[in-house]
Amino acid sequence: MKPIDYPKTSAQAIELETSYGAKNYAPLSVVISKAKGIWVEDLENHRYMDFLSAYSAVNQGHCHPKIVETLIEQAQRVTLTSRAFYNDRLGAYEAYMCSYFGYERLLPMNTGVEAGETAVKLARRWAYRVKGIPENQAQVVFASGNFWGRTMSAISSSTDPSSYLDFGPFMPGFQTIPYNDVQALKTALQNPNVAAFMVEPIQGEAGIIIPDPGYLMQVRQLCSTYNVLFMADEVQTGLGRTGKRLACDHEEVKPDVLILGKALSGGLLPVSAVLSSHEIMLQIGPGEHGSTFGGNPLACAVAATAIQVLVEEGMIENSQARGEQFRQGLKAILSPSILEVRGKGLLNAIEMREEHPYSATDICYRFKKLGLLAKPTHGHIIRLAPPLVITENEIDMALERISQAFHEADKSIA
Ligand SMILES: Cc1ncc(COP(=O)(O)O)c(C=O)c1O
Repeated sequence: MKPIDYPKTSAQAIELETSYGAKNYAPLSVVISKAKGIWVEDLENHRYMDFLSAYSAVNQGHCHPKIVETLIEQAQRVTLTSRAFYNDRLGAYEAYMCSYFGYERLLPMNTGVEAGETAVKLARRWAYRVKGIPENQAQVVFASGNFWGRTMSAISSSTDPSSYLDFGPFMPGFQTIPYNDVQALKTALQNPNVAAFMVEPIQGEAGIIIPDPGYLMQVRQLCSTYNVLFMADEVQTGLGRTGKRLACDHEEVKPDVLILGKALSGGLLPVSAVLSSHEIMLQIGPGEHGSTFGGNPLACAVAATAIQVLVEEGMIENSQARGEQFRQGLKAILSPSILEVRGKGLLNAIEMREEHPYSATDICYRFKKLGLLAKPTHGHIIRLAPPLVITENEIDMALERISQAFHEADKSIA
């Protein structure tokens, strides 16, 4: 068999994906072939600032040298053992993570959605075996606008038709209430069969929706009062993205179950994790849950270094400082198309007026021409989330490009 023939041009690469791939994504027409830090490069050697960070999976910057070094070193030793045997990386990684995040136990998975599934299974087990909910009656409450992936369970809790339409029948025992609505949560939790409330501290895919100050604190209090597990989905908001270690840290609340993914590997591998207490975690025993790749030594070694560099290189503090600088600059851009600028740390959004003559997609193509990559969510919201290693000068450079794109779009319709 002859070796694979990789494309030499962006047009060829796009043509191949269009012809042979499933159509479950609609990528912006840029073909990335190299990346370093906040910068990515296409096959024609155009350089772009990455303001998506693979949906916040490359918080530590593309190809971080220390994480890559760990990957190479571990890949030459042993990568996968399966959990049929112990390996010499998993336990130390679990201890390291538990100590850093303040939990007693960790369950390793691969993707974010698998970690969410794990959390739901833990909640159900805990409901039957600790809380005493009658068999098969456990309810898990979610917030409308939630996004935690694409499996059947995740879409069963979704309120977005593009996630669930014509994929039924759906998972029973799920209920949604409005996001950022303390009264709705209080009402829902009065049902004694509620096991858990699973929520994003800031909703990412919904368009960077930031709840009112105090919401997370009230969620914590209500869950404690009603003996319901507070499960925080920090897959997108965690690991420095919002300017703190976790978005829950902004209100100093500790969830009963913490769900992490994405940047846990610095974008090198799919690595996710669920952290919790002995009481909750030990409801699942041998042979009752798992994954061939979850907890593999390569993933554990990479994740430990990814966390280490995040902390040691001051990326969390940088996210906070650069986020402030960035939002200040964004708010100074005067365009009639902009409805609102919002965010925390380096998780930001420009919400555009839906009825405006040019769209968020038009603006993203203008960004691309000016050397900056971003993607709209929900048609009219542009998420702006660069790697947390971005410098002050690079933020200024990005602001110039963003501002120019809006001004040129405004001129084109004047
Ligand atoms: C908050 C949140 N949870 C879970 C997920 C699912 O992660 P994955 O795509 O790795 O399954 C995502 C993905 O965007 C997310 O934003």
